[in-house]
Order: sequence, then structure tokens, then C-alpha cells
Amino acid sequence: MARPKIALIGAGQIGGTLAHLAAIKELGDVVLFDITEGIPQGKALDIAEAGPSEGFDGTFKGTNDYKDIAGADVCIVTAGVPRKPGMSRDDLLGINLKVMKSVGEGIKAHAPKAFVICITNPLDAMVWALQQYSGLPTERVVGMAGVLDSARFRHFLSLEFGVSMRDVTAFVLGGHGDTMVPLSRYSTVAGIPLPDLVDMGWTTQEKLDAIIQRTRDGGAEIVGLLKTGSAFYAPATSAIEMAESYLKDQKRVLPCAAYVKGAYGLKGLYVGVPTVIGAKGVEKVIDIKLDRAEQEMFDKSVSAVKGLVEACKAIDPTLG
Ligand code: APR
Repeated sequence: MARPKIALIGAGQIGGTLAHLAAIKELGDVVLFDITEGIPQGKALDIAEAGPSEGFDGTFKGTNDYKDIAGADVCIVTAGVPRKPGMSRDDLLGINLKVMKSVGEGIKAHAPKAFVICITNPLDAMVWALQQYSGLPTERVVGMAGVLDSARFRHFLSLEFGVSMRDVTAFVLGGHGDTMVPLSRYSTVAGIPLPDLVDMGWTTQEKLDAIIQRTRDGGAEIVGLLKTGSAFYAPATSAIEMAESYLKDQKRVLPCAAYVKGAYGLKGLYVGVPTVIGAKGVEKVIDIKLDRAEQEMFDKSVSAVKGLVEACKAIDPTLG
């Protein structure tokens, strides 16, 4: 059987890391697309030349022509600009919305059967616009945020508890921004919920609150350190986890920015929710029960996402 085809739209920091991970995991043949000439070609060749030592097979092509993504099974979109220190993800909206239009049209023309994962920020609004510009079914257009936000939460929790990151599960809902909702009640160490761990004296509520805030600020912390761009290793790994679940029909339960039609009392909005990802794309949105405080935080996050969507509509009235 032919190898799956993975198109990476945007060959910058995240795009290059995605290509390298896809190669090492042998997920398929990789096409790196970018508007900048030379960068996708150079990165594709560099990664291909890692094959003999790493021991992977596959083809790696860099291109500036959308025709080369033809028939892609998966498209991962990082085209656009990242933030600099002092910028919020929302500051990127105007520039990246235009990028989503051209990317959406490229995918529509050349890879309409693909499962599309958007990473470009501000994520919840960009994935919403990308779905409309591409015209692909909503279950095949999804945003990467929750896997990354919960990975950050899990990492910080593992440091606090002194346990393996593998034994920490974490749950983050809502938009990929300052209003994201890390849920303590549904986050565990080996199945023990965080509030129980506070009761057991393993940590304090104050420490937990500080970890939750650090998770919310996780992207900004890295932007502040790098100064020239934003995080790329963990975002790429998170998107690859989603792509792998689709390609191998793993049916992983992963928090994603998914199109919600009914669950959580929402209709027609992309927002971070737990999903099941398999061969059909987003096969299920899991509608968990929230208590009053959690619901309030979620509502606040949803209204921040709605604000960004309205800002997109004001820029491009063809979006509906
Ligand atoms: N079409 C294709 N590629 C484009 C376009 C476009 N219209 N506009 C810009 N690009 C390319 C740039 O040439 C660059 O190579 O997108 C790439 C973006 O790469 P980086 O600047 O290195 O940004 P990166 O760190 O990869 O982040 C990309 O993901 O997490 C988000 O906030 C982040 O929105 C940003 C995106």
C-alpha cells in the first residue's frame, strides 16, 4: 500500500519540526509548502539526508506550488506569523486571517479529501476561518491547542509531584488563550484527581492555582525566553499525535479545537473540547458535565473566542 501523504503548509519553525517528527515516526511521505523560496526545499533535503542514520524511508519534497500537495491525506497548517514578546495571540488575527484564505483555497483545490489540522494563531478563530475558506467538512478540520495546553499542564504537575509525566493526565477546555480552562477535577496522577491530592497533603491549593496560571501563560513564557518567535517542539509533537490518531484510526481521546454543534450548549463554534479522533476525523465530541465555577470559566473562554470570530467577520464579511 502506498505511504500516506502528509502536506505541511508553512515550513517555518513548527513546519520543519513536524516534517522531522513525521519522518522519524515514518508516518508517510512529506511535502513541505511555503511561500518563501528555498526554505521548504532546504528543510526537505536536510531531513531526507537524516534518513540513512536514523533509518527511515519516505520522500521529502519542498515546494512553493500548491499543486504538489495534491491528494494529501493530512494537511497541517502553520502558515502565518508567530508572536513576539509583548504580543498576544489575538494580535496576529489580521495578518493570519489573510493567510488562512490563501491556504484554505489551496487545500480546497488540491487536497479536498485531507484531514486538516490548524496550528496558526489565534487558533480558535483561524481554524473556524480555515474551515470556511476550504469548504471541507467540519469533522475533517480541527485545531491543535488542547493537546499542547494539557501537555504543559501535565509537565508542570509532574514537576510538582515528582512523578513521571506519563502517569499524569490533564484536562484543558476552552479557547487557546488566556481564558483557557484547565480542569483540576478531571486531571489526575495515576487516576487520583487533583483535589484529592490536595486533601491528601501532596500539594496545596495555592501551588495548584500557580500551576494552572503557569499553564495558561505557557506559550507566553516561551515567547519571553526565545524573543524571536514562539514555541515549536511541543506544538509540533502535539499535532503529530493528532495526525497519527487519524492515520492509524487510533481513536485517541484528545482535546482539540473542534466544531461544536450542540454539545456544551454551543452551536457552530470552534472551541477546545475533548474529542475522539479516528479515520473519520473528529468522530465524537465528548460533552462532560461542568460544575458552576467550571461553567463560568468556560463561558468566559467561549465569549473570548466569539469575540475573535466577530473580529474575523468584520475584516471579511464573506465569512458567516
Ligand atoms: N502561505 C504559506 N506559508 C506562509 C504564508 C502563506 N500565505 N505566510 C507565511 N508563511 C510561512 C512563512 O514563510 C514561515 O516560513 O509560514 C511560516 C511560519 O513559520 P514561523 O514564522 O517559523 O512560525 P512558527 O513558529 O512555525 O509558527 C507558525 O503557529 O503556533 C502558531 O502562533 C504561531 O501562528 C504561528 C504559527
